Amino acid sequence: MSQKKNKPAPERTDSEPTLAAGTSSAWPFVLLGVLLFGCFLHVENSGGAFRADVYQVGTKFPPPLPNEPEEVKLFKAGANLYVACAGCHQPNGSGSDSLNVPPLAGSEWVLREKPDRMIRIMLDAIEGPITVRGKTFDNASMTPFRDMKDADIAAIATFVRGNKDWGNNAGHVTPAQVKAIKEATAKNAGTRWRATTLEPVP
Ligand code: HEC
Repeated sequence: MSQKKNKPAPERTDSEPTLAAGTSSAWPFVLLGVLLFGCFLHVENSGGAFRADVYQVGTKFPPPLPNEPEEVKLFKAGANLYVACAGCHQPNGSGSDSLNVPPLAGSEWVLREKPDRMIRIMLDAIEGPITVRGKTFDNASMTPFRDMKDADIAAIATFVRGNKDWGNNAGHVTPAQVKAIKEATAKNAGTRWRATTLEPVP
């Protein structure tokens, strides 16, 4: 039987590394903490997560810049104002079968060369049977927006017609076009259109 001899562990000659006196400082960490806290506050205050007043449909665009072309300004303003339509036509313009609301994405009522029908629909709304993309909707009626500012109606119409995310690519709408149609249809105020009464409109 052989016995292992327990040799004593060799003595360590090296020493643990230590910071030279004076170089150790908590300041970088304190600074980092302050910066992180600042970032957190910033995100908290401007990120909008879970804040219904900030996080809502159509607020993905920052305010337009002064030197941008008119149609870009209108489009961006419209993106923020589209919230007026989104409850029914849905944030992505798909409409809703269960609400009986037709889509704005790909709609032949929206994508006409002239915006004349769309402006009329926005001003005094529409009710009764209407066929959009091959499907007939009948059981709901829209809210009229005649009291909305011409510029805001133009902005929403521009956003909806030119919304490439929805596959739409029609020309923008100016406040002057809205004003002209508002005046021309003044006697219609308070009466919703029907698809048939809009047929003669280009
Ligand atoms: C209260 C719900 C509601 C709101 C809000 C609403 N709509 Fe509508 N909209 C409808 C319904 C319902 C119809 C179809 C009515 C019918 O059956 O004749 C319609 C039809 C339309 C049409 C013609 C059909 C189509 O889908 O292209 C357009 C264009 C339209 N709406 C645009 C808008 C715009 C732009 C807004 C926002 C400014 C808006 N609507 C707000 C419910 C709504």
